[in-house]
Amino acid sequence: MLKENIQQVLAEIEQLKANNEKELEDLRIKYLSKKGAITNLMNEFRNVSAEQKRELGIALNKLKTEAQDKINQLREQIQTKCAAVDTDIDLTRTAYPTPLGTRHPISLVRNEIIDIFTRLGFSLADGPEVEDDLHVFTKMNFAADHPARDMQDTFFVEDSKGSVEKNVILRSHTSSVQARVMEHQQPPIRVICPGRVYRNETITARAHCFFHQVEGLYIDKNVSFADLKQVLLLFAQEMFGKDTQIRLRPSYFPFTEPSAEMDISCHICGGKGCSFCKNTGWVEILGCGMVDPNVLELCGIDSKVYSGYAFGLGIERITNLKYMVKDLRMFSENDERFLNEFVSAN
Ligand code: PHE
Repeated sequence: MLKENIQQVLAEIEQLKANNEKELEDLRIKYLSKKGAITNLMNEFRNVSAEQKRELGIALNKLKTEAQDKINQLREQIQTKCAAVDTDIDLTRTAYPTPLGTRHPISLVRNEIIDIFTRLGFSLADGPEVEDDLHVFTKMNFAADHPARDMQDTFFVEDSKGSVEKNVILRSHTSSVQARVMEHQQPPIRVICPGRVYRNETITARAHCFFHQVEGLYIDKNVSFADLKQVLLLFAQEMFGKDTQIRLRPSYFPFTEPSAEMDISCHICGGKGCSFCKNTGWVEILGCGMVDPNVLELCGIDSKVYSGYAFGLGIERITNLKYMVKDLRMFSENDERFLNEFVSAN
């Protein structure tokens, strides 16, 4: 009886398989622990008759060694399998790159503009986007019946009852920041004010209901139009290249006198004329002029002592020229394919 049992356990031992340490430990317990199958057989051995003792003793010892060898062999297999898995992981390999966002082209160009003007001695100023009539229009010398004060051109904010609050508006230009700076600071003043502005326009490829401007303001004693021209020439050459030329055309703004619009020589054809500049060789980039003495007085600055210049440029316009983005709407649609094109731009 014991002989058959030994044979059966031996047959089982030969077939043993374990996939991991846990399964192996279960097998060890099943066969070799104090309550395991082999120990049970050893206990039965006590009752075996004297003449069978030798033969069965040898068989039992053999079974025990076989079992131990098998367990050891399985353990080795499991360990080499784990080691193989471990070596598949290359810890020296560089990690997969984390996808990074890119700077918006408007931010890139705005930063470039800020960089140029801060090198020329301008500091940064800021003002609210939701403004009052006083700073956007009145202090900027707009006549009471100026069309910009009309709802066709400017967004007015409604009060909680839904009626239009004529005094609360979304600023339609960053010139409002001029008024805010002059209220709090006496000359010399040399600031640029980048920011978003809003106009009641139908959204098309060429117009949008919001866009971005950078306002410039310099007020001191003896500031002349020549100073304005020189600073704008430096800006144009830094932004579009050393060969860039500028041209000033007379214009009108309520807050500057004289006023001008500035063109740069077309950087695509170098001024020879192409479809981009409509064969004129020039493209318009900003409005500027000498601060109207009325504006200085309205903002508490003595116009007999001080004079100044101001300019305002559209960041979208400059970005269009630099990167040839034809459709303004692309700047606010946030299409990743468009935004990702600016990864290496800066
Ligand atoms: N505020 C003007 C505009 O929005 C630009 C400008 C600013 C012109 C300063 C002259 C001086 O069109």
